[in-house]
Amino acid sequence: MIRSVVKGSGSGLPRRVVSNDELAKTVDTSDEWIRERTGIAQRYIAGEGETTATLATDAARAALADAGIDASAVDLIVLATATPDQTFPASATRVQQALGCRGGAAFDVAAVCSGFLYALATADSMLRTGMARCALVIGAETFSRILDWEDRATCVLFGDGAGALVLKAEDVPEDGPGVLATRLHADGAHGELLYVDGGPSTTGTVGKVRMQGREVFRHAVTNLAEVLEEVLVASGHSPADVDWVVPHQANRRILDATAKKLGLPIDKIVITVDRHANTSAASVPLAFDEAKRDGRLKPGDLVMLEAMGGGFTWGASLLRL
Ligand code: ACO
Repeated sequence: MIRSVVKGSGSGLPRRVVSNDELAKTVDTSDEWIRERTGIAQRYIAGEGETTATLATDAARAALADAGIDASAVDLIVLATATPDQTFPASATRVQQALGCRGGAAFDVAAVCSGFLYALATADSMLRTGMARCALVIGAETFSRILDWEDRATCVLFGDGAGALVLKAEDVPEDGPGVLATRLHADGAHGELLYVDGGPSTTGTVGKVRMQGREVFRHAVTNLAEVLEEVLVASGHSPADVDWVVPHQANRRILDATAKKLGLPIDKIVITVDRHANTSAASVPLAFDEAKRDGRLKPGDLVMLEAMGGGFTWGASLLRL
């Protein structure tokens, strides 16, 4: 059967690290409050010359090198972001140009923090139906540029970065590698709980992130538990079969609560929120790449990816490495 098989991963992080203590010099907050409520100790913040597309390009180059695949083989780039370099063209086309691979499809998808799951599902469908053979799936964000730095309830939570996976369509046996099952959801009724108060067609401005944190937290735990269960049922697996969960890194308490709800030990969950904070669409591929490079993710492992974000949108995907 034809499946989308992960061939490599890569990361792109800004040069500058900002600790909670450094943030507390300009924002009315403290290291203690941030760590206790979120598990975040630091975040990376993009500086001059660093944009969503440049970080995405760094991640894409690293992923191609990891896969041992030349950029010329890439015929699909799907880039998930809520913070594109420009309203158009899509940041995916900027990455395509930087990599020097022309002619294939390249576009952005917008599903905020679950954007990477939406991008992966899109690429997986195109690979399995023969519309593409080799895809770069990227999550990249510069959320620091849409944060209200006067709003301590949101600005301490986010960071910048990019992560990428290379996937290839391959003919594999039933028990072989590849994306096994994916489920995506959205519920626009909750749009006002997490949104940006601007945009090209409304205010003509970029806008800033607004969030009702407590409500988001409540929905996140319920929605994630449901979609994880759904993907397990669809793929004929139980939680005990899963070697690793690579979740969206919104905050440590959501990760703990999700693990508990599923009956999974916390040491099966890849956690990077302490160092990256919430990088929105970039957090899943960033965490995936870290765990792959440090040897936790190994060939044959069953890995669950999951995310929830503004919209609300949420999704999960089970893959075998
Ligand atoms: N530093 C110090 N104090 C703060 C800060 C801060 N950075 N932010 C808020 N406070 C204060 C508030 O003013 C409030 O003070 P008050 O009691 O005097 O009014 C108090 O802390 C409690 O505020 P809450 O917002 O109720 O704090 P809560 O315990 O809910 O924690 C948090 C806030 C961390 C945002 C939590 O709601 C949460 O984790 N929500 C999940 C949302 C999330 O992670 N969103 C990410 C994007 S969505 C996604 O990726 C899934």
